Amino acid sequence: MQLIDGKATAAQIKAEIAEEVQQIVAAGGKRPHLAAILVGHDGGSETYVKNKVLACEACGFKSTLLRFEDNISEEELLAEVDKLNRDADVDGFIVQLPLPKHISEQKVIEAIDYRKDVDGFHPINVGRMAIGLPCYISATPKGILELLKRYNIETSGKKCVVLGRSNIVGKPMAQLMMQKQYGDATVTVCHSHSRDLKKECREADIIIAAIGQPDFVTADMVKEGATVIDVGTTRVPDASRKSGFRLNGDVKFDEVAPKCAFITPVPGGVGPMTICMLMKNTLSAGKKEFYSE
Ligand code: GUN
Repeated sequence: MQLIDGKATAAQIKAEIAEEVQQIVAAGGKRPHLAAILVGHDGGSETYVKNKVLACEACGFKSTLLRFEDNISEEELLAEVDKLNRDADVDGFIVQLPLPKHISEQKVIEAIDYRKDVDGFHPINVGRMAIGLPCYISATPKGILELLKRYNIETSGKKCVVLGRSNIVGKPMAQLMMQKQYGDATVTVCHSHSRDLKKECREADIIIAAIGQPDFVTADMVKEGATVIDVGTTRVPDASRKSGFRLNGDVKFDEVAPKCAFITPVPGGVGPMTICMLMKNTLSAGKKEFYSE
């Protein structure tokens, strides 16, 4: 069994990005600039956004954090999005989700200029991704593809089961694993209403678990020699931790790991790669790699 070290891989990629930024700036080019909008004080969102700002520093990017209280109106938030759309210095930006109940996340996502949508959530980017055109690909599936590539894990022609059908992970992951230019695999998507989910998993060469249910994938669901990618990051109470919680994956790691060829741990697997891929998308935005104007 080989552990897939997302933390080390992410550190290496951030160093590669920083090197490229240095060259861009040395040649008189513009330092990439990422802006983030954070609404309210959700603990998870605070941590993610803080880590995104730190990652920007590590990559040599400029970053701007715009904070608003959770009583901001939808109209006011849409006006902030519009300001960022029109700010020529900002190459890309994100609106951290979830948003308060009175604000339509979909409306906000669709208000973002798709050319600055480094999260890859806008329907234009999602649609372009689905038909294999250049675009921003959302960070978690992009990070998983990068891990599979860097660990030389064969995906072409393999059976891949994606557990979960969220817009952010499950759906784009299944799309990408299916496409010739990325995974080139035979893909099955399983979800809460799937019959024979265990059987599907047992037949899989690669399982990508993104259902948000701690310890859902057990040893009896995994084929000997499979690769298991764990996207779960549920906060479970843990009195022994200073924070009062720990992150728990969707995979029962201790019993599943011995059966695997490759497996990602939680934390330190997919998580660090997600932020790192946001940095890659921001670098692409700075270079106007996908959209020229
Ligand atoms: N909330 C959880 N994951 C994400 C993400 O990748 N981007 C944004 N904007 N919000 C999130």
